[in-house]
Amino acid sequence: MSDSGIPQDGHNKIPAGWMAFFVAMIVFLVVYVVRFTPAISGWSFYKLHAEEMKAGEKAAAAAPANPGKYVGKADAIAAGKTEFETSCAACHMADASGGIGPNLKVALKYGATPDKLFESVSAGRPNGMPPFGQQLGNDKIYKIVAFIESLRK
Ligand code: HEC
Repeated sequence: MSDSGIPQDGHNKIPAGWMAFFVAMIVFLVVYVVRFTPAISGWSFYKLHAEEMKAGEKAAAAAPANPGKYVGKADAIAAGKTEFETSCAACHMADASGGIGPNLKVALKYGATPDKLFESVSAGRPNGMPPFGQQLGNDKIYKIVAFIESLRK
């Protein structure tokens, strides 16, 4: 030790919290590297991706597309009506009697069965009907289909 009287580094202890943080970072780094290095732990994005794809396929197989599933169901028709007012009424009017878009209560050019209606709404139609598949998702469109069918009875 020096006897110069000037405080030395050794006297200025690192605060315990900093030391704990420093050690924790090293532990985290080691754990992270071990956990996520494919050659060490076998972890891999490809594996994760394959698992997710499999789960997705299973879910799709378990719930086959059925655009007519809500036809005649009062709750779903009410939900579809609300959705129709939000997304469709600007062009088709709230009662679907037609405006910029055609009247949906009469004979339809592209067909009026649940799956044809679903196709019209989800994928759009060439003369100005925008596709809504991305925005609404299948379930909401099924409900809208049920609402339109309820108007046509
Ligand atoms: C920007 C205006 C606009 C909006 C918004 C819109 N539509 Fe349309 N829709 C049209 C037009 C225009 C057509 C005619 C397309 C054609 O003839 O190719 C059409 C066609 C359709 C058809 C097919 C009609 C037929 O004759 O076969 C259906 C069903 C339909 N729309 C439902 C909907 C539903 C449900 C929504 C809301 C989710 C919606 N539309 C939102 C403009 C719109």
